[in-house]
Parts: sequence; structure tokens; C-alpha cells
Amino acid sequence: MTPRPDKHVPQTLAAFSQAVHAGNDIDSGTGAVRTPIVMANSYALPEDPSSISWSGTDVPLYTRNSGVNQLGLQQKLALLDRGEDAVALASGVAALHAVFFTFLRTGDHVVVSDVAYEATFKLFRELLPEKYGILATFVDTSDPVAVAAAIRPETRLVHVEAIANPTTRVTDIAAVAVITRAAGVLLSVDSTFTPPPVLRPLELGADLVVHSLTKYINGHGDAMGGAVIGSRELIQRIKSEAMVDVGGVISPFNAWLIVRGSVTLPLRIRQHTESAQRVAEFLAADPRVAYVAYPGLPGHPQHDAAVRQFRHGFGGMLAFAVDGDPATQNRFVAALRVITSAVSLGHDESLIVHVSGAGPRAAHYPEEFQRLGHLRLSVGLEDAGDLIGDLSAALDETFA
Ligand SMILES: Cc1ncc(COP(=O)(O)O)c(C=O)c1O
Repeated sequence: MTPRPDKHVPQTLAAFSQAVHAGNDIDSGTGAVRTPIVMANSYALPEDPSSISWSGTDVPLYTRNSGVNQLGLQQKLALLDRGEDAVALASGVAALHAVFFTFLRTGDHVVVSDVAYEATFKLFRELLPEKYGILATFVDTSDPVAVAAAIRPETRLVHVEAIANPTTRVTDIAAVAVITRAAGVLLSVDSTFTPPPVLRPLELGADLVVHSLTKYINGHGDAMGGAVIGSRELIQRIKSEAMVDVGGVISPFNAWLIVRGSVTLPLRIRQHTESAQRVAEFLAADPRVAYVAYPGLPGHPQHDAAVRQFRHGFGGMLAFAVDGDPATQNRFVAALRVITSAVSLGHDESLIVHVSGAGPRAAHYPEEFQRLGHLRLSVGLEDAGDLIGDLSAALDETFA
């Protein structure tokens, strides 16, 4: 049978070392020092396969259950986020859905952040209530008292984003975890904006961590994936119910790409974070910029919680608007030469997207987001001076 990458990487190693070694092993078939991409749907069965569990997920059997590359990625993600186990799926949204599908049923209630990624918002506002009778209360999860007040006897889950997309509102995970533990409900944290080592929500009392691997963890903008990390018991339920029986698995090639991309995760995060802080400070000091939302700025409403909670800075995501109407925001974006106008985030290249302040999701945003819309900027790995130069030249061109 093809070996699985199971080199033991100690918990005690630093994140930089774990990111290099976890999920990869010497291939016993070829001696290659990198785990090869195994593009096979099926693995050879033992002589007597009759007692094998066809929904088993621990040994390579069938690629919808487990494969060499998926197992390596899962092992690495569990180690980096300090979980017992991880499940890797086809996208971040597949991972979010896997949590909601596995742990919620008709009649259940969820408390969810009123600022959240588009699909999360839509799932809880429309799809899950209308199709499955799962009800949600949207609350400002940066206020633990509001979270506690929204919990009902039927509440099964509280779902938050550590730094919310797109407003950068910060939720104090430890404070919310005290509430969910006392109430006996699960806490899931979408930590896509804050991958390890910036934040490890499980260490703060969360039950499940969700990542879009598409973003920082892969980091190169060339593979989609998603993951959930947690206790063996909870992840096993997701594997058997949402992975094997619903089937949104990650491809071996994407799993391999993400294991490779994540080798440099701690290094990249350091660069993203340092540059984002400089870019945010530059924008905040320019009178042609109407507002800047970045948790690393002292004026950010949850700056103190962010200082307590995040290690190694405040991530690479910020939102801002230039002083003007939507056409002015578009002119500014069109004048950028280094930063690319495209969706997604956490890639090597800086990405910006202009989003309007209208619509049900934006109704929960701060007033300036609603009035001016926002430019969501994912600060990439370019030299920070070049990024500031690009933003500065675009401001000059826009306001000439
Ligand atoms: C916070 C957050 N969660 C989940 C997702 C979904 O990830 P994917 O695009 O990999 O499905 C995104 C995508 O932007 C996101 O920003």
C-alpha cells in the first residue's frame, strides 16, 4: 500500500519548523524526499477486504474518504492549529457547510456574527431557514453580552469570524468561549483572516476552526480548499457525515499544492502583517482617504482586544474608502498599477475589490461603509514601499 505521510513532527517545534516538516515524508516507494502527488481514485485492498468500513477515513481506500495527499494536509493543519484532527474539503465554503450540515438539524438555532463572509450570511439568512428550518440570530459578536443574550434553549452553535470579512471587526474568542461552554453550545470560528500562528482559536476555547485554505494557508492564489480543525470526535463526525456522504472532497493535487504553499505560511504572514500595518498607517494619514479599518490602528474599535488576542500582528486585510462617490472609488482602483483589482485574499499579490454599501449584508456595517462603500485590500508580499507608492500615485491621479 502507498505510504501515508506520517512523519512525527513534535508539538514543541516552533510554527516555522512545523510548517516546513508537517504533512510531508520520504516516499518509501521511490525514496523521494517530498510526498508525491498520488492521483488515484482507489487504493489496493487487503486480501480479505470484507470487514473494512467503507466509510472509514483513516487509511487510503477511496479518494472521497481519504488519500495520501489529503491525509498529509489534514495532519499538517491539525498540528498548526493545535487540534486533534482536521478535515480538508474542496473550498472554504464546503468547510463552512460541513460544520453547519453536521451539527445542525431542523428546529435548531444558531447565533451568528452579523458581519460575515457572503456565503455564511446567505446560508443563515436564506438557505438554511428556508430549506431546513434552521433559525439564526445575527448579533454583533464583538460584544460578548449580546452573544450571551441571543442564546436560547434550542441554540446549538455560535459562529463567528475572528476578524470579520469585510469590516475587520474583531471578536474576543476567549470571552465568547466562556459563554458557549457555560451554555453547552458549540463555538466555531472562521479564522481565514488569521491563520496560525496569528491565532489558534482552539487554544482559546473554541470547538471548531474553519479556514478557507484558498487564502493565506495556500497563499499563492492557485488552489482552492477548505478545512475544519477540532477534536477527533467532532472532526470524525464531519468526515463521516459531510465528507464521505456529501462528498465535497479536496482533490489530491490541490491538497499537495496547499501542503507545499503552507511551508512558507509563517514567513509570509510576517510579511503580510508588517506591510499591512505600514499601508494602513499611510492611508489613515492621508486626508483624501475617508476611513481605514485595520485592527492594528489604535483607533480601531476593537484594537485592545486585537492586541490581547493576536500574536505577530494583525493580519494582512484592511478596508477603506477614498473620499468620494462610487465612480471616484472606481477611478482610484483603475489608477493602481501594482495592486490588482480581483476578488479573493491572502494571495502573494495584493488584491483590491470595490464593494458597494447597499444590500442586506451591508446593513450591519459601520455607517461609513454604508455611505461610501469600501475597498477591501489584501496586502500581498510585494515590497511595502512599492505598495504605498502605488496607492499614493493612484490618490494623486484620482484627485488631480
Ligand atoms: C472569511 C471567509 N470564509 C470563507 C470563505 C470562502 O472560501 P472559499 O472561497 O475557499 O470557498 C471566504 C472567501 O473569501 C472568506 O473570506
